[in-house]
Amino acid sequence: MAGILLAVLLVLILLVYWQFILAEGTYLGRSIVAKLYDWTAGRYDRIKAYDVELEDATLGRPLAAALAHVPHPLVLDVATGTGRLPMSLFRQPDFQGTVVGLDLSTGMLAQARRNLAEHAGRAYLIQGDASRLPFPDAAFHAVTCLEALEFMPHPRAALGEMTRVLKPGGWLLFTNRIGWEARFLPGKVFPRRRVASVLQDLPLEDIREMVWEVNYDQVWARRRV
Ligand SMILES: C[S@@+](CC[C@H](N)C(=O)[O-])C[C@H]1O[C@@H](n2cnc3c(N)ncnc32)[C@H](O)[C@@H]1O
Repeated sequence: MAGILLAVLLVLILLVYWQFILAEGTYLGRSIVAKLYDWTAGRYDRIKAYDVELEDATLGRPLAAALAHVPHPLVLDVATGTGRLPMSLFRQPDFQGTVVGLDLSTGMLAQARRNLAEHAGRAYLIQGDASRLPFPDAAFHAVTCLEALEFMPHPRAALGEMTRVLKPGGWLLFTNRIGWEARFLPGKVFPRRRVASVLQDLPLEDIREMVWEVNYDQVWARRRV
């Protein structure tokens, strides 16, 4: 009897770990995901402890370079969190554009507002859901979405929404989860061999996948003209 109870307890602990820690509430609905991020928002930057030089080398600089031909680019950062992508872009002297950051979590947006305070005239933060972006078609020169697609109800539909608001020829940059944890996120990540075909249907072209962090590939693509 004690053995059975122990086994049940173990299964429960593993389930809780999977759903709340590893999957960050993604199978339990948007409001749970938002709540979990509200709770961690105050500690998020400390936990992540991003290396500024690495961030700029792999995010801000390449994106600013990709947008160099546009005088005042308008960028949308979907699931902006605490403003990681806009901060890296604003550190680039060549980037003279504006960034709109959208996120589900009030707590993450509050931290982003503090982080981006000195760029108030060029950074706009709004609360919203990636599956229904409150913008017209072809509004942005670039759309980014880092470390977040797997926490959305329908990642493929969210990519479709990001492509919709992208100008023809504009860049989409997003991350695709890899590594052992990705195996526990069924329906939320794209196997590497399928990424290109998913994106070609959206319609995107010039698709480039590259290994980025231990847990993520970066994927770049342009909206077909
Ligand atoms: C791991 S954080 C990444 C934040 C930021 N992009 C970064 O790289 O630091 C994931 C973010 O996705 C946001 N998020 C999750 N689901 C979302 C949705 N459906 N719409 C908008 N934001 C969402 C969360 O609130 C959280 O801020």
